[in-house]
Amino acid sequence: MAGNRTSIHGQWSSRWAFILAATGSAVGLGNIWRFPYLVGENGGGIFVMVYLVCVLLVGVPILMAEIMLGRRGRQSPINTMKALAADENRGQGWQIIGWTGMLTGFLILSFYSVIAGWTLAYVVRTASGVFVGTGAAQVATTFNELVSDPERLLAWHTIFMMMVIIVVSRGVKGGLEQAVRYLMPALFVLLLVMVGYAMSTEKFVEGMRYLFVPDVDLIRQKIENGQFFGDVFLNALGQAFFSLSLGMGAIMVYGAYLPGSSSIPGTSIVIAMADTGVALLAGIAIFPVVFTYGMEPSSGPGLIFVTLTVAFAQMPGGAFFGTLFFCLLLFAAWTSAISILEPAVAWLVEYKNMTRVKAGALAGFAAWLLGIGTVLSFSHWSFSFPFAGQVKTDGLFDVFDTLASNILLPLGGLLIAIFAAWVMSTKSSAEELGLSKTAYRAWQIAARFIAPAGVILIFLNAIGIV
Ligand code: TRP
Repeated sequence: MAGNRTSIHGQWSSRWAFILAATGSAVGLGNIWRFPYLVGENGGGIFVMVYLVCVLLVGVPILMAEIMLGRRGRQSPINTMKALAADENRGQGWQIIGWTGMLTGFLILSFYSVIAGWTLAYVVRTASGVFVGTGAAQVATTFNELVSDPERLLAWHTIFMMMVIIVVSRGVKGGLEQAVRYLMPALFVLLLVMVGYAMSTEKFVEGMRYLFVPDVDLIRQKIENGQFFGDVFLNALGQAFFSLSLGMGAIMVYGAYLPGSSSIPGTSIVIAMADTGVALLAGIAIFPVVFTYGMEPSSGPGLIFVTLTVAFAQMPGGAFFGTLFFCLLLFAAWTSAISILEPAVAWLVEYKNMTRVKAGALAGFAAWLLGIGTVLSFSHWSFSFPFAGQVKTDGLFDVFDTLASNILLPLGGLLIAIFAAWVMSTKSSAEELGLSKTAYRAWQIAARFIAPAGVILIFLNAIGIV
């Protein structure tokens, strides 16, 4: 049984439609582009292990909490938090979750769209067949030429943002739902093809070992340097939030369109498993190729574009599979990007009575403008700065990404967990989640203690207090 509000923005046509949409939001560049390069920058197996712990203990309970709040409030995150706080006789302050979420969304979408633009460029390039038969060095050079050309990046960024605005304007059923139905399963199959290729390479075992066997000496070394929590844990935590689309209201607003009769815990588990599965498959497809062709795992945001392109250049039918793969990655990025924009659009529609078309164009334009900072990060405006034991080198892109993923998302998630598990009455949350007594207790303990303590400890450690 759910609360008794209804959404003015419409509803998903079924529980499956919600699972597809939420999985479409979760699975995106975060899994296929961001996860592998963070694994490479943070020492392989250690990072993967810590990441899985973060997903299970922090991600899943907060995922359930966020969907639950959304469905009970049935509005944009800002108004949902306002309404739910009023239900519990609390003040207006909890709206901050919605406001920071919206800000974080703009930051994330601004660089997300630029990276999705790289994907667009790669669809065209692989389709043209220019890579066939080339090797690692040449593929890397072409990548560097792309990112250091701000005009080209701006053009692709603009095209992608327009694609996002168009889908968001069409609304919940017409736009969001249709895009995911066929494309998600197709992406999964294509990833399996890539894993098949990785299995045929010389260094498959080495790649698997790198991913799944934590290097004990490296852990010891990182602990001694005081980098284990500060960078490995903080990056893994940030990635768990980023990959599951948590902490900024994207999943909350999708939850607002969820039919009252659907089970929240069941759907959450499906979403988390699909998301984690895709990230691991991407890692399995990539690292054997990295080692086989003597590339550097820690080469940063270009990793998948260079690695997979080398694989496509070498494998039979590579131009075909490559084009298909980048098309599907583009769709995955698309279905994620629309969820990043949705909280702001829903709020503009509620508050300003705007049409979705107007709201989408306005919010999309703001994110597009901010994206110019990322466009220039790889050329004219590149600079480096230290953060939690690591040196970030990609200018404003790194500033936006680090601020949003490693600080604002976990902070938003912390507040969401506190509201859902401490402020909201047990009666309301139990009614909304519909779990058995024991399962409800388990969720409550995770959302009350484990998830908040995890976020707080990792934060304190990153700033050097514990
Ligand atoms: N989870 C998506 C990905 O992995 C990106 C994304 C969509 C996101 N919505 C979000 C990230 C909300 C943070 C917050 O690509």
